[in-house]
Order: sequence, then structure tokens, then C-alpha cells
Amino acid sequence: MRGKFITLEGPEGSGKSTQAKILIRRLAACGIEAIYTREPGGTALGEEIRNILQHNQAGEAPCERAELLLFEASRSQLVEKVIRPHLERGVWVISDRFMDSTTAYQGYGRGLPVDEVQAIHHFTVNNVIPDLTLLLDLEIGAGFQRVTLRYLALGESADRFEQEDRFFHEKVRSGYLKLAAAEPDRFRIINAAQEPDAVATSIWNRIADAFKLSV
Ligand SMILES: Nc1ncnc2c1ncn2[C@@H]1O[C@H](COP(=O)(O)OP(=O)(O)OP(=O)(O)O)[C@@H](O)[C@H]1O
Ligand SMILES: [Mg+2]
Repeated sequence: MRGKFITLEGPEGSGKSTQAKILIRRLAACGIEAIYTREPGGTALGEEIRNILQHNQAGEAPCERAELLLFEASRSQLVEKVIRPHLERGVWVISDRFMDSTTAYQGYGRGLPVDEVQAIHHFTVNNVIPDLTLLLDLEIGAGFQRVTLRYLALGESADRFEQEDRFFHEKVRSGYLKLAAAEPDRFRIINAAQEPDAVATSIWNRIADAFKLSV
């Protein structure tokens, strides 16, 4: 049987990476094999594109449409090299961001036409569409506080996206909520302001319900 494809979405610092890892452990405890992928990246080519996008490796910022297409190139590689083959073998795939990130950031955030962005996703993912998308919704200020603490702990500096202004991130957040409202069958909105364990429980309940897991 084909594996399930679950994506975690949401603004900066909402807990996507934290929750993806917890979810994979919980699935393993139920005897379900699941892999973690992240976007952009997740393949050798994709990680190179990630570097270009996040650290301005080329010394020249991509224009908005070039940025969009770089994300799509990374995604297509991830779909064909990793996601589709695992799903076909019955392995579940948990992706830390996927196509909805591009709609939220490049479409709603940067202002590229959302319908055109979604048409490009359609081409890129080539029928590999998430079975369930968990939108970790969090107030922008709270996410920034978490990210700042994470950087202080790791001794890193903010990347290009986190340097965008607050207004940009507000547009991203409201864009995500519009996407969730437009596709209620695929999306579940999770209150990411809770403690990590409580967020994990909310996520697990939604997944058990969606896929009829006995827990
Ligand atoms: N529910 C939570 N409450 C408080 N802090 C949290 C919670 N979940 C995660 N954190 C902490 O907040 C920071 C951001 O979490 P995480 O890296 O999982 O978010 P993310 O959504 O993956 O962020 P990014 O968009 O930057 O990749 C981390 O330092 C993490 O330990
Ligand atoms: Mg993350």
C-alpha cells in the first residue's frame, strides 16, 4: 500500500522541525516507517539550491520569479528522487515545508500571482500531493522570539527570509490561513502556541483520525 504524505507548514519558528521529528518517532512506535525531508533541500542538488536561496551564495539576489523557480527545481528533484519512490514502497514521508510554503511566501508574501504560482506547483509535483497538511499557526512575534532564542543558542545569524520585515511575515501567515480555508479536506490548523507536547498531541490526534490509526 502507498505510504502517506504529510507536510508541516507554518511561519518561522512555529515548530515545524521540532514536530516533524516527534511525529516520526510516534509513527515508528506504531510500526509505521516514515522518513523526514525538508524544503528547500533534501537531495544533493536541493541542498545546493538551499544555500543559494538562504545565504545569497551567488552574490546576487534572485529576482522574484527566479527565486520561485529555484524552489520549484529543488522540489521537483525531491519529489522524484525521494518522495515518490518512498511512498510507492509504502514508507510515509513527513516533509518540513512543501509547496504551500512557496504559495505563502512567494505568492502571498512577495505578491506573485497566487493562481500562477499554484499552476507551477501542479507541474512541479506531478501528482505527488500531500494527503494531509498540518498548518502550525502562530502569532508572528511569538515565532520570532523562538527563532531568536534558537539563534542565540546555536550562535548563528538570521537568514535572508528572517530579515524580511514583520509585514511580510504577517502576509505569509494570513496567506497560509487562506490556503487552509480553501482546502479544508487537506489542511488541519494546529494551535502552535501551546507547549511542544501539547502541539504534538494535537497533531497526533489529527493524524490518527485522518488515517484511522488505532492508538
Ligand atoms: N511549542 C513550542 N514552544 C516553545 N518553543 C518551541 C516550541 N516548539 C519549538 N520551540 C522552539 O522554538 C524554536 C523554533 O522551533 P523549530 O525550529 O521547530 O521551528 P520551525 O517552524 O522549524 O522554524 P523555521 O521556520 O525557522 O525552520 C526552536 O528553538 C524550538 O526548540
Ligand atoms: Mg525548521
